[in-house]
Amino acid sequence: MSLLDSAIKIGGKTAPNRIVNQPMECNDADEVGNPTELTFNRYRKLAEGGAGMIFVEALTITRESRARKNQLGIDEKTAPALERLLKEMKRINAKSLILLQITHSGQLSGADFSRRVSVYPLSGQQTHILSGEEIDQIGDDFGRAASIARQVGADGIDFKQCHGYLGGEMLRPVNTREDRFGGSFENRTRFFCETMAKIKKSAGSGDFLVGARFSVYEGIPGGFGTRGPAEVVEDLSEPLAFVRLMEKTGVDYINVSAGIPAITPEIVRPTKNYPEGVYRHFGWAQAMKKQARVPIIGSGYTYLRDGKNDLKEPDPGKKNFLYWAEKNLKEGICDLVGVGRQSLADPLFARKILEGKSGKVNYCTACGSCSVLLRNQAQVGCPIYFEHYRKLLKKVQKPKADRRT
Ligand SMILES: Cc1cc2nc3c(=O)[nH]c(=O)nc-3n(C[C@H](O)[C@H](O)[C@H](O)COP(=O)(O)O)c2cc1C
Ligand code: SF4
Repeated sequence: MSLLDSAIKIGGKTAPNRIVNQPMECNDADEVGNPTELTFNRYRKLAEGGAGMIFVEALTITRESRARKNQLGIDEKTAPALERLLKEMKRINAKSLILLQITHSGQLSGADFSRRVSVYPLSGQQTHILSGEEIDQIGDDFGRAASIARQVGADGIDFKQCHGYLGGEMLRPVNTREDRFGGSFENRTRFFCETMAKIKKSAGSGDFLVGARFSVYEGIPGGFGTRGPAEVVEDLSEPLAFVRLMEKTGVDYINVSAGIPAITPEIVRPTKNYPEGVYRHFGWAQAMKKQARVPIIGSGYTYLRDGKNDLKEPDPGKKNFLYWAEKNLKEGICDLVGVGRQSLADPLFARKILEGKSGKVNYCTACGSCSVLLRNQAQVGCPIYFEHYRKLLKKVQKPKADRRT
């Protein structure tokens, strides 16, 4: 039996295999943040796909500040529809662990349709700087969202710290606010620790899973994974200390990512422009795994495909997803391997791989079209393999003058 196909304990639950569908926001909720039929269809397919862990995309804890016009929400209004979604997924597949990623978009909130807020002043930009009381309130809202996630039948939550949204903003050295949420490492991680305590209190008893995804290195001056507010050289001292701290707060797993899609996309998702980005993800996961006792999820595996990639290894058998996933699991680089874009291109990816049908996978070409849709606030999916999204892509790519007619 392959390692990919082996079960693993996460907290008090068991994931049936080591493939993870990473959270992938698709901006197809209705006007209050409920999942629509399109959302249901996507997650029905992912449930059928049978990955060991399935993360439901970034759900906003508030409509007031959000990154996507049609972002899924998690609040009292959306709870009944989320419950139906979870029920449906569990009916199709009772084994996979299904977790909801909960987020506040902070300075990446869309100013056109919501309120852009920030933890610290942004040079040359008008943004509301959150007060300490407002930050406390946001922490309470995360606690409430986690409790809703539990009520609607999720196996757990992912408290989003990655990719430049509010959780990530808070952590970075450039957050030099002078109150208890900025400056020292202790202050910059206070929001995480206090909010985790709220999450644990409202939802964390029994075997309900609580974890976090964070960007180890953001790739901007003063970003997380650097030594100071004006530094850009990678330094993993703080990310490692953060892993220790996360474990102290009682996380059941840690999902290791990197970069900020809106600013440093090539760090988040490797493409032919920088194929070796895949190896950097391996390195980040390994560094965090050496520190951690809880399971570590690695990111950035999509680009490997079936070996048809631009990595400088001539033997396709030694540079594909299966080869690296097995090798990394065997060598303790990570405990689970996550795919993002690949799960849009082929939601049945995990099942096909585990059944030995890798030749039948619709491989992601890393073309970036799903990100184009996301940037344009359109519904997101894979235009390479799905007609609906192909039409949407054509629409957003139309020259502006054309669109008026
Ligand atoms: C369209 C799109 C939506 C995404 N949505 C989320 C999200 O909701 N939460 C998150 O943590 N990461 C999100 N990501 C990042 C992916 O989960 C993943 O980390 C990234 O695509 C790199 O992994 P891959 O190489 O396997 O695609 C998104 C990426 C894309 C392209
Ligand atoms: S649109 Fe391109 S990058 Fe996105 S999932 Fe499809 S093939 Fe992959």
